[in-house]
Amino acid sequence: MTIVNRLSVAQENLEQTGYLDLAIDPTVDLFDAISRLKKEKNAVILAHYYQDADIQDIADYIGDSLGLSQQAASTSADIILFAGVHFMAETAKILSPQKKVLLPDLKAGCSLADSCPPTEFAAFVAQHPGHKVISYINCTAEIKALSDIICTSSNAVAIVESLPADQPIIFAPDRNLGRYVAQQTGRELVLWNGTCMVHEIFSEERIVRLLHRHPEAELIAHPECEPAVLKHAHFVGSTTALLKYSARSNCQSFIVATETGILHQMQKVSPGKTFIPAPPNNTCACNDCPHMKRNTLEKIYLALEYELPELVMDETLRLKARKGIDRMLDISAALGL
Ligand code: 13P
Ligand code: SF4
Repeated sequence: MTIVNRLSVAQENLEQTGYLDLAIDPTVDLFDAISRLKKEKNAVILAHYYQDADIQDIADYIGDSLGLSQQAASTSADIILFAGVHFMAETAKILSPQKKVLLPDLKAGCSLADSCPPTEFAAFVAQHPGHKVISYINCTAEIKALSDIICTSSNAVAIVESLPADQPIIFAPDRNLGRYVAQQTGRELVLWNGTCMVHEIFSEERIVRLLHRHPEAELIAHPECEPAVLKHAHFVGSTTALLKYSARSNCQSFIVATETGILHQMQKVSPGKTFIPAPPNNTCACNDCPHMKRNTLEKIYLALEYELPELVMDETLRLKARKGIDRMLDISAALGL
């Protein structure tokens, strides 16, 4: 059964309880109601930059995957509501097992995490004896349990460089981030062939055309993008790194090759600057992540009110998955990341 199917079964169980059909009084101010529930229940909302603007605005912390994991590990709240996707809520539970972790929609999966099924990955690892396994945090707890160290897009280069130069390494599941890290470190990495549905969709041709039409603009891109896009980028980095770069750069105009949710923070931090979403290779809004966008203010309100859906995890799996995340957090702290 695939991860999405497994999640669907869990969600259907929840739907059978009628929970998701609960009508919300349309006169309720969801911003006020969510703030009240947060205080009453000592809950914290951690949101990824790819969430809708309203969700970012009610969050207690907005960040990239590294920042969100650091917050999940250190918060004193009793409840963590994760406005993100399933692997992020799993990471929060792995780091803070004593806390209740809520994910407003259990179907908020991830195409990249789904591209790396645990049985196939275990066989792939077995075919490469002597290799250390570094996995991008965008994977399931089962893949984390099969890994030596976890990384995010903001520390992947440093994590690879933390291993001796002659240490053979498997890098999973994102082949584009893996290629980018191999290029930055000069290391040969054995790559798992996974991709993110949002970042593989950008059109090199249309981006080049846009750069010609806006010669004053810089292309800034997430390392999950294809190499054909990254080679045109003036700056490559995680969502937090892209946000910080756009704020400190003297440039006034940016073409942004990542999920569109980040544009809300970019615009807030640099109100005078122009941010243009990089075009996908067709006409749909494919650079919106359909998984991230499953979360809504209504679902967040219901999740806090009823403390459902809760992310639960088998303790043996949690302990196995935790080792690689702890190593990542230790290395990041030592490097001041
Ligand atoms: P970061 O926020 O760590 O850059 O990750 C991007 C992403 O794809 C999250 O799903
Ligand atoms: Fe997964 Fe890509 Fe969506 Fe991030 S943007 S959650 S990697 S599908």
